[in-house]
Amino acid sequence: MSRVFNFSPGPAVLPVEVLEQAREEMLDWHGTGTSVMEMSHRGKAFISIAEQAEADLRELLAVPANYKVLFLQGGATGQFAGIPLNLTTPESVVDYVNTGAWSKKAIGEAKHYAKVNIAADAGEPYTSIPAVAGWKLTRDAAYVHYTPNETIGGVEYHFVPDTGSVPLVADMSSTILSRPIDVSKFGLIYAGAQKNIGPAGLTLVIVRDDLLGRARPATPAFMDFTAMAKEGSMLNTPPTYAWYLAGLVLQWLKRNGGLKAMGERNRTKAELLYGTIDGSSFYRNPVSKDARSWMNVPFTLARPELDKTFAAEAKQAGLVTLEGHRSVGGMRASIYNAMPLEGVKALVTFMREFERKHA
Ligand SMILES: Cc1ncc(COP(=O)(O)O)c(C=O)c1O
Repeated sequence: MSRVFNFSPGPAVLPVEVLEQAREEMLDWHGTGTSVMEMSHRGKAFISIAEQAEADLRELLAVPANYKVLFLQGGATGQFAGIPLNLTTPESVVDYVNTGAWSKKAIGEAKHYAKVNIAADAGEPYTSIPAVAGWKLTRDAAYVHYTPNETIGGVEYHFVPDTGSVPLVADMSSTILSRPIDVSKFGLIYAGAQKNIGPAGLTLVIVRDDLLGRARPATPAFMDFTAMAKEGSMLNTPPTYAWYLAGLVLQWLKRNGGLKAMGERNRTKAELLYGTIDGSSFYRNPVSKDARSWMNVPFTLARPELDKTFAAEAKQAGLVTLEGHRSVGGMRASIYNAMPLEGVKALVTFMREFERKHA
């Protein structure tokens, strides 16, 4: 068996220890004689797995007691609709900040449900964050939505915007658990699991209690935060195996020093990669220095005709899924929590060697 360094933007690399533990427990979870995949979600064994995962997540993120943690399905994309369905009426105004591809998708969906005000727009080519002082916020908006990390553009907020008494809603799909955050600054946080939480199929929602009880009558029950919170996220069959694997990832995070240690590690990885890019005239990252993502690092080659060769030679060196998003081109290295520093070191060594050969 040989493992490669996988720079996929998602579904993404998982910690090897987690995969090994899942393999160990695959046929017989803790003496039950069954796989977690085969268990009833209502049984004692799975309930203990589910409760432990929630407790670990609450501990890692220091989630205050007045927030519910929901383990849902439908991806972050489901929440692009789920959030307005739960938090607005058709008359509500909602503020959105547009920093790129994922903000745009969230905006497109919200427009079906409420009056969307674009409070700020970074504009093409979406390589920066609009200065907060210039945001045109609506005083009585139902919420302000932003995308703390644009997975495709590689643009990340290194601060949490202050929206006063208007609830702040954040799509943290590609940055959650990458460093400590103050959950109390948010009304709602949501994330697809397939980058820093676990496998695809699970969607995390952390929602402040006062935002519950507002869902529109026609909200599908499985998207209704209040109904789901009441049922412990088990109004219908949850994605049990993904929930279990997320639990293993959360335990791995705890064993490895929690989010403070993870943040330091992620900063080191990002600095090494950006340093290599900035130190060369062959590679280039287009994002403003104060908005560069720690998780997704797009870069271009001075000679774009070499893109395919770069990806092919990288693959031979055991460095895979480095092709950039089709809308941006070039390369992109996603370096989530489970990407070890050794992976980034291997990448920068390869990049320097490639430059020496081809520049
Ligand atoms: C920031 C962001 N938001 C939303 C999504 C969509 O998530 P999903 O595929 O879980 O619906 C993604 C997927 O990559 C993402 O990166």
